[in-house]
Amino acid sequence: MSTLRLGVVGAGFITRFQTLAMKQVRGMEFAGITQHRGSAAVVKLAKDLGVGEPRIYPSLGEMAKNVDCIAIYSPNFSRIPVMEEIVAAVKAGAKLKGVICEKPLGRTVAEARRLVELAQSVSLRTAYFENQIFMKPLRAQLAQLEAVQKTMGPLSLARSAEEHGGPHEPWFWDPTRQGGGVLGDMGCHSIAVGWYSLTPAGKPLTFLQPQSVSAEIGLLKWGQPYWRDKLLRERGVDYSRHPAEDFATGIITYKNPETGQKVKAQFTNSWMFEKQGLRLFMDGMGPGYAFEINSLVSPLTIFIGDAAAEAIKDAESALEKATATRGLLAVQYNEADLYGYPDENEDALQAFTAGRDGFLPWSYGLEITRLVTAAYMAAESRKTIDLTDFGFRISDCGLKGSFPIRN
Ligand SMILES: NC(=O)c1ccc[n+]([C@@H]2O[C@H](COP(=O)([O-])OP(=O)(O)OC[C@H]3O[C@@H](n4cnc5c(N)ncnc54)[C@H](O)[C@@H]3O)[C@@H](O)[C@H]2O)c1
Repeated sequence: MSTLRLGVVGAGFITRFQTLAMKQVRGMEFAGITQHRGSAAVVKLAKDLGVGEPRIYPSLGEMAKNVDCIAIYSPNFSRIPVMEEIVAAVKAGAKLKGVICEKPLGRTVAEARRLVELAQSVSLRTAYFENQIFMKPLRAQLAQLEAVQKTMGPLSLARSAEEHGGPHEPWFWDPTRQGGGVLGDMGCHSIAVGWYSLTPAGKPLTFLQPQSVSAEIGLLKWGQPYWRDKLLRERGVDYSRHPAEDFATGIITYKNPETGQKVKAQFTNSWMFEKQGLRLFMDGMGPGYAFEINSLVSPLTIFIGDAAAEAIKDAESALEKATATRGLLAVQYNEADLYGYPDENEDALQAFTAGRDGFLPWSYGLEITRLVTAAYMAAESRKTIDLTDFGFRISDCGLKGSFPIRN
């Protein structure tokens, strides 16, 4: 089996997580990383895990010449310049098989569309990394329920949530650099998962047609004086000047084009979740059957009492965004696997090696950006946005949508 040499842009949180994930993927070699403050530590991690010996490159152009595919794991505001450099490298002769982009594809529809166009301009294969669609529990329930679904009919309601106590880096909190608040940051996950969960078995990703979206957003915790001061003190983020939402919820209605049946996906996201750490929650209701996933339910719990608490070093080794170091703690001992990271890497590896797009091409990321933006419009206008009014045409991940978001 040939090896796919991966080059990574960015050396932060998700790069470290994806490095752990690579340990669980055969045939992918972590071969390069661009120069950042955390690059040397990532190189050490990669070597320790045996997933490669990445070279640190001072320029993206130089790295592009020495790898087979590039993953964009840098902040949301860097997408376009990073992709322009990749395109320039391909035009200069770099033989890349594909390019990966972490969620969200863009801060706005215009940015997401530009990303798609840039990849198309040099015929680069793409993979949009929405890890939750690759989660094994989600895939397992689909497989388990497929026969029931075919007999009884598809799901009619899906609920999905991603919640934690707030992001780790200041740029996430800045609506201009990140692209919004929690709806932009995590709504993209839950909206994608809702759409995917409702889609009847065997149908394409965008088979169900979005009909309407309603949404509400709020600043429930981090706008309060105590928490606002804490944010300023600890992260240098001033929410008295540039606040964003820390809570978002909404409902998207979809239509099955074959049967006309309307189904609904509710999403909820927050940066004000006060339990152990990150929680992913998904459920679905079909006629006579249901599923439920809760990432805080682990076969492993540990208890640490006050007397022993001084010995604790890193709560986050138990759970992403852990907020407590003592008491009864849920521990996910293979979070990368639980969240679907190895599976999305495996998919990109197989797809790029075979010369095709990943299961989720960037054009799909653009559709998700549209839905997130429509949810912002709904919250802002306090109206249900009729997506069909705008001729929101869905094709199988094509670019025929003409949803006129004002960018
Ligand atoms: N799938 C998920 O669940 C998930 C989780 C976390 C982050 N993400 C996504 O991954 C991306 C990175 O997030 P993160 O948490 O790793 O951020 P981070 O701030 O921890 O790390 C970002 C890295 O990019 C580098 N960088 C900064 N500016 C850059 C620029 N202009 N060009 C190139 N590199 C630059 C930084 O030096 C840093 O090494 C974001 O788009 C985020 O939405 C996804």
